[in-house]
Amino acid sequence: MGSIHEEVERIQTLFESELSSAGTLDALQGVRVRFLGKKGEVTSLLKRLGSLPAEERPEAGRVLNELRDLIEEALSRRTEECAGVQVAAREAGEWLDVTLPGRGRPWGAFHPVAQITQEAIDIFVSMGFSVAYGPEVEDDFHNFEGLNIPPHHPARDMQDTFYLENGLLLRTHTSPVEVRSMRRWGAPLRIIIPGKVFRRDSDQTHSPMFHQLEGLLVDENISLAHLKGCLEAFANRIFGRQLAARYRASYFPFTEPSLEMDVECVACSGKNPSCRICKGSGWLEISGMGMTHPNVLMAGGIDPARYNGFAWGMGLDRIAMLKYGLNDLRVFFEGDLAFLNSKGERR
Ligand code: DAH
Repeated sequence: MGSIHEEVERIQTLFESELSSAGTLDALQGVRVRFLGKKGEVTSLLKRLGSLPAEERPEAGRVLNELRDLIEEALSRRTEECAGVQVAAREAGEWLDVTLPGRGRPWGAFHPVAQITQEAIDIFVSMGFSVAYGPEVEDDFHNFEGLNIPPHHPARDMQDTFYLENGLLLRTHTSPVEVRSMRRWGAPLRIIIPGKVFRRDSDQTHSPMFHQLEGLLVDENISLAHLKGCLEAFANRIFGRQLAARYRASYFPFTEPSLEMDVECVACSGKNPSCRICKGSGWLEISGMGMTHPNVLMAGGIDPARYNGFAWGMGLDRIAMLKYGLNDLRVFFEGDLAFLNSKGERR
């Protein structure tokens, strides 16, 4: 082993080369152990002090202490630098811009038919009607017989019925709920019946499942004028402006007389012979209606000698198509979000 001075020089050179290649806090800690640890280079040299001749000790001690201080200082400086670099690197990776706007959630929208249904309910409820519901799987009595449509009546052919087992069927209209409601609540009665109905029919303007809104008012001394007043008020409110109305004679087994109501075309008011919505006729068919047939009142347990009433049934999908200017009913059932969002009102 060389003299203390030679050793100090060797250690210093060795330390400098090790320090320059130690790039992480872990590596620096390794260097510290290697030089200042219990069995480190500097420590073992300090242990040799005792074996030196007494006159050399003070000078050797001073040189060794200097070396230790130098190493200590260099290590702590590098450790600090290195820690700074590591923190900066972590901060760069974890950088967060707290001023960024949050990620929005898309708003849902009501389906156009659901919207029209709700609007129609609001309008009739404001006139004093209550909302009634009934089963979609019906029996022959409520769907036909009680509505004055006996077996073999030609009116049964007008409605392509889905028959189920045990004589049950999918209701072809909301009218069966008229009979159910009269039997349940009696007269006087003022109800609307929104709901799904089913027919074996499918094309651009017919869907095997569609939506109707039925109405029934039973009281004393009811006239056609009451019916017209009610439905014209409804049409004006749902389409948002005063519309001319007209009535055509029609036939339904459950009303006598029976009518069909048209309103002036909401798109062209009859001014455009090539109007897409009214096909140039100037009129839109809105609803079937009439004065409730005495047989229907009786099927509902109501005395036709004392009470009479009116009823109507309209297609809600059709009203939605007219209101939104559509000519293909199928878009309502395809679940296309772009379409639904463009027509759906957010509430
Ligand atoms: N039930 C008829 C249908 O589905 C619609 C209807 C017409 C209902 C006249 C009525 C009415 O209550 O009076 O075609």
